[in-house]
Amino acid sequence: MADDLAEVRARIDLVELVSKQVALKRSGRNYVGLCPFHDDSKPSFSVSPTLQRYRCWACGESGDAFTWVMKTQRLDFPEALRILAESVGVKLSRRADVPKEDLTDHRSIMRLAQEFFRTQFELSKEAAAYCENRGLDKESLFRWEIGFSPGGGALANHLQRKGVKLAQARELFLVDEDDSGGYFDRFRGRLMFPIRDERGELVAFGGRAMGDVHPKYINSSDTPLYRKSKVLYGFHLARDAVSKGNEAVLVEGYMDTIACHRAGVTNAVASLGTALADDQVRLLRRWCRKVVILYDADEAGAKAAIRAAELLQAAEIEVKVAVMREGDDPDTLLKARGPSGVKAVVEAGISPIDFELAHLESQLAPTQEGFWREAVRVMSKQSNAMELDRLIVRLATRYPGHSDQIAAQRALRTEVAKHRRIYRSSAPSTQPAAKKRSAPPLSVEERGLFRGLLRQSFMAQAWKAIREEGLCYTPEGLALRSAMVGAFDETGPTGEPAEWIAEIADDDAVSLLVDLSFMERPFLSESYLEDCAAKLRSAKERRERLAMAQEGLNDADDAKLRELQERLRRRAGN
Ligand code: UTP
Ligand code: MN
Repeated sequence: MADDLAEVRARIDLVELVSKQVALKRSGRNYVGLCPFHDDSKPSFSVSPTLQRYRCWACGESGDAFTWVMKTQRLDFPEALRILAESVGVKLSRRADVPKEDLTDHRSIMRLAQEFFRTQFELSKEAAAYCENRGLDKESLFRWEIGFSPGGGALANHLQRKGVKLAQARELFLVDEDDSGGYFDRFRGRLMFPIRDERGELVAFGGRAMGDVHPKYINSSDTPLYRKSKVLYGFHLARDAVSKGNEAVLVEGYMDTIACHRAGVTNAVASLGTALADDQVRLLRRWCRKVVILYDADEAGAKAAIRAAELLQAAEIEVKVAVMREGDDPDTLLKARGPSGVKAVVEAGISPIDFELAHLESQLAPTQEGFWREAVRVMSKQSNAMELDRLIVRLATRYPGHSDQIAAQRALRTEVAKHRRIYRSSAPSTQPAAKKRSAPPLSVEERGLFRGLLRQSFMAQAWKAIREEGLCYTPEGLALRSAMVGAFDETGPTGEPAEWIAEIADDDAVSLLVDLSFMERPFLSESYLEDCAAKLRSAKERRERLAMAQEGLNDADDAKLRELQERLRRRAGN
C-alpha cells in the first residue's frame, strides 16, 4: 500500500491536475491562480511544482494531489487514491477489505433483490393500500424506489433460480439460515426502503412492517457492502442541494426524509434512528458547513438532538435545532401543515443551547430540584458574552432568593463563572483557529538555508550548514532542524523534494517547508547560502560570548555571596 502511494505520488503532476480546474499562470518557479476554495478576487493560490503542493495565501487551504482530489471532489482518501492511481496507470496491489470479485457479486445480488422487491410492490394490493393510507404518492414511491418483500421464502427462491449462492445472500442480510440448513427471507411482509450510499450505490435495506408488528423496522446489519455508521439515508438524492446550499437537514428516519423532500426540503438526510456516528459527522462535514437537526419532538428525539448537536459542533459544523410541536415528526408535520409548514420549521431552527434550555424548561420547573444546576451547566457552554447575557437576563426573572433583578442576574453570572472554572473544558471555544498567513517564522538566514534544502542544486550545501550544531536558533528553526535531522541520515535528503518531503512525519515541519518553497526572494545562490551560514555562525559566537559573560557575572555574584556568609558566620561566632 505504501509503495503504491509513493508510486502514484511520483507519477502525478499537481500542476497538470490543478490546471483542469484552475487557470494557472507561471510566476517565478511556481504557478498562481484564483483560489477554488474561497471567493478569490486576485490570484492567492499557488502551486509548487518542486514540492507538488498547493497553498492559498488568503484562505489558508493547502495540501498535495491527494487532498486536492479529496477536497475538490469530496472523496475520502482511499477513493482519491484509487482515482489518482487510475489516472496515472498504477495498479493498486490490494484493497483493504473485500476482494474485488466478491464485491461485484454482492452488488449484483443486491440489484437482483431490489428488482425483485420493486416487482413485488407492483403486484401487491396490500402494499399499495398501505402507501395510499400513509399518503405516499406515486412520484415519491418511484423516487425512493420503494419495494415490497412478501416473505415466505419468495426472495430466497427467486435468488436461487437466478443462480445466486444463498450463503452469499446471507452475508448481505437478505436471507438467513434455519436449523435444517435451509434459507428463509429476512424481510417478510414488509415495505422495503433501499439504502444507497452518497454515490448512489445500493448497500442495504430497511423494511417497515405494514401493521402493528414488532419490530416496526428491520434494517440490514453491517455487511461487506454496508457500514451503518458511514451512511446517511437519502444522501445520494440530497447531495446536490446540500452542496449548493452548504447546509443539510438531519432527520431520524426513512419516512421523515421522504416527507422533507416532498416538502421541498431536498437537503434532508437521516441517521436512521441510531445515535449519530463519527463517520456520519465526517460525511456531513465533507459536504456542508451547517446542519439543521429536525428530530422527532419527543423525549428520545430531544436527547438525541442535543447529543448530535454536540458531535456536529465538535466538528466545527454550525448547528441549529428545529422545533416541532410535541409528538410531531416531519411526516406528521407535512400532513398537518403542508410543505410550507415543514419549511418554516426548518428555517426557524434555534441554537443548540436555546434548544437545550427549552427542553429543560419543558421537563422541570425552576422551583424543582436540579433545574438550576442544569440551567447553569447549559448556559456555561455559551461562549458569546452577549448571548450569555441574554440568557441570564431571561432566566434571572425566575431565580429564587434575590431581592431584585440585578442581584439575581449577578448571582447567576457568578454561578456560570464558577461552573466554568471547575469544568473549563466544557466551554467550547466558538472561534476556530484563524488560518492567517504571516511570513514564515525563522530568521532570514535560517529561511535561506531551508529554502536551499528544497532546491536540488543547493541541497548538499544547505544540509551541511543545517546540521552544524547551534546555527539554527529560533524555536521554529530548531524544531524544523530536529524534524529534518530525525527524518534523514547524515547525507540528508536526496532526490526530488516532492518525494522526500512526503517522508517527513511532522506536519508542522512539512507545512513550514511548503511555505518556504513559495518564497522567491532573496534569490538563492551558493554565495548567498554561504553568507547565511556565516552570519548564523557569528550570531552563534555572539550568543556564546553573551552566555559566558552571564556566567561570569553569576560566578562573581556567588563569590560575593560566599564572602557575605563568611562574615556573618564570624560575627555570630563572636
Ligand atoms: P420512528 O419510530 O420515529 O419511525 O423511528 P418513523 O421514521 O417515524 O416511521 P413511521 O412514520 O412510523 O413509519 C425513526 C427511525 O428509527 C429507526 C428507523 O430508521 C426509523 O425510520 N427504527 C425505528 C428502527 O430502525 N427500528 C425500529 O423498530 C424503529
Ligand atoms: Mn418518527
